[in-house]
Amino acid sequence: MTNDLTVIVLAAGGGTRMKSKTMKVLHRLGGRSMVGHVLTAIASVSPQQVVAVVGTQRETVGPHIQEHCPDCQLAVQEELDGTGGAVRVAMEQVGVSTGTVLVAYGDTPLLEGDTLRTFAAEHDAAERAVSILTAVVENPFGYGRLIRSVDGEVEAIVEEKDATVDQREIREINSGIMAFDAEFLRHALPRLGNDNAKGEFYLTDLVSVAREDGLTVGAHPIEDVWQTEGANDRVQLAELGRELNRRIVTRWMLDGVTVMDPATTWIDADVQLASDVTILPGTQLLGATVVAEDAVIGPDTTLKDCEVGSGARVVRAHGELAVIGPEANVGPFTYMRPGTLLGRGAKLGAFVEAKNAQLGDGAKVPHLSYVGDAEIGAASNIGAGTIFANYDGVEKHHSKVGRHVRTGSGNVFVAPVELGDGAATGAGAVVRRNVPPGALAVSGGPQRNLEGWTLRRRAGTPQAEAAEQGLQREEQ
Ligand code: UD1
Ligand code: MG
Repeated sequence: MTNDLTVIVLAAGGGTRMKSKTMKVLHRLGGRSMVGHVLTAIASVSPQQVVAVVGTQRETVGPHIQEHCPDCQLAVQEELDGTGGAVRVAMEQVGVSTGTVLVAYGDTPLLEGDTLRTFAAEHDAAERAVSILTAVVENPFGYGRLIRSVDGEVEAIVEEKDATVDQREIREINSGIMAFDAEFLRHALPRLGNDNAKGEFYLTDLVSVAREDGLTVGAHPIEDVWQTEGANDRVQLAELGRELNRRIVTRWMLDGVTVMDPATTWIDADVQLASDVTILPGTQLLGATVVAEDAVIGPDTTLKDCEVGSGARVVRAHGELAVIGPEANVGPFTYMRPGTLLGRGAKLGAFVEAKNAQLGDGAKVPHLSYVGDAEIGAASNIGAGTIFANYDGVEKHHSKVGRHVRTGSGNVFVAPVELGDGAATGAGAVVRRNVPPGALAVSGGPQRNLEGWTLRRRAGTPQAEAAEQGLQREEQ
């Protein structure tokens, strides 16, 4: 691999076919923007410098690129006068005149670092002025076509709009990825003209410039055409997204993850999975989610930026910024909002919502509850249908439950409130004051039965009819 490599990423075009207020290269798949994927592939070849050409919406695209690649330089193309014009501003910015310059586009998210590495190495080894990564495609419409001489030498690239009827039959196309000898590029760029169908400075015209100078030009066909494909509209974005996902899921399976249904499993590019993780159908693992070994996720679960410990079980759940401890049990139908932290072996059960809630080791909230802004100590059990009432209508408050606490069903903990270690509460308690360690809290007066209430107050209703029949049966 050359140690004198400059990469130029073109990202100045608007992408009108997206019909979006978001710039094309910022559209996302696999949890990353298109240009983010390209920058990741570029980073893996460790270039000396990377320069991104921005233009349309540069105030959003520029910072996004620099967030992804802090060492990237930005070059601004004021007027979109073609790919040749874009490379010219990039070369003015970096001022290189030795080594190799690789040009890539910001909208080819499936491009892999290995492809760039091999392509640049072949270009260097052949000591060419220009190399082109090409592809032989079924439908070449819209692409620049490779014009070869009878003995196979690359002579020119002709753009769709400038091509003759015969040239349009050629199925070998320019992927857009090109490598140049830096010195040649620097001297040849000013020689580009814009006397063509689009009135633009075509980078691709440098092929004929090199040939006129008697320099060598070569082409490398790539078999894996997906890597050079760009998304111009949302249909193509979805197609590329599905293919990217297929590749990511396949890679994890080969690394020892069981995926029952790859077609309904979505895994973002930055997710990390350990071996012997099992993923059941309908599961999305997004963002920076990390799953430890032997965990079983799904079916029908979405986790974004979550951490799942080894051997944990997560069934039909939705989580964001949550930490699920080893051997913990979640679900089914559980909503984990940011700040949900489950200790080892903890349980957040069916129809439970949690937010900013920390459950100690072995703590359980098994059924139908809301736990907001609360800490529940190790080995405590919260009764079914309990609400941590954290919001007084104006402010949020925090509650704390100690260790080995047992609470009855249908409790309301009115925050801020604390239950000491080993405390207990009765069914239906509304707990407004702190409960000391070991105390049983009960609330509400003794039950009163107002006999005959339904017959008096609901006369003539089906309820009253049923009450009457019930009373008669009891009398018999
Ligand atoms: C280009 C190639 C064509 C190739 C095709 C592959 C040229 C002249 N043609 O055509 O041979 O088959 O890509 O997809 O290079 N851009 C800028 N500034 C500009 C113009 C474009 O930064 O002034 C950027 C765009 O954002 C895009 C890339 O360059 O990322 C390609 O531009 P586009 O207009 O899509 O070129 P094509 O006509 O597709
Ligand atoms: Mg294009």
